[in-house]
Amino acid sequence: MFGSLSTRAVLKSLGIGVVLAILTLVGLSQAGVVSVMGSDLPTITVYQSPTCNCCGKWVQHLEEEGFTVESEMRQDMGSVKQQAGVPQQLGSCHTAIVGDYVVEGHVPADDIKQLLSNAPEGIQGLTVPGMPVGSPGMEQGDRLDPYDVLAFTSDGATRVVASYGE
Ligand code: CU
Ligand code: CU
Repeated sequence: MFGSLSTRAVLKSLGIGVVLAILTLVGLSQAGVVSVMGSDLPTITVYQSPTCNCCGKWVQHLEEEGFTVESEMRQDMGSVKQQAGVPQQLGSCHTAIVGDYVVEGHVPADDIKQLLSNAPEGIQGLTVPGMPVGSPGMEQGDRLDPYDVLAFTSDGATRVVASYGE
């Protein structure tokens, strides 16, 4: 008797807990917070050549940082970049799409999270042109070649949003 009562009490308080959790989530999502937290990060689609080793390592980095990744193997990365609006001089190996943005090259997950949370208008996305050693997926021991993460427009204008190394 006591057992079933306490079970009922527990269930009741669990129910209240669930309602509170839902209310909290609704509140957070209205504030735009939920969309950039942990498991609620949007899926990122990564276009890469099947022979690209560093691309796979960058995908792993994203997954470790909480992103769900869909990898698309493509032989025609040139046309993928063209369609995505990545100016040639800003290109790298892989090209990714997340939300309304393009992510080109070995951009750190933190900068992508920042992009999603700031949701700036008028930019095509972020790029780390080339493949600097020490960027995520391009590790070679302790070597870190200085590099910038750039916000870019499809006509090639850029702005530095983060710098790594010296
Ligand atoms: Cu690469
Ligand atoms: Cu790559």
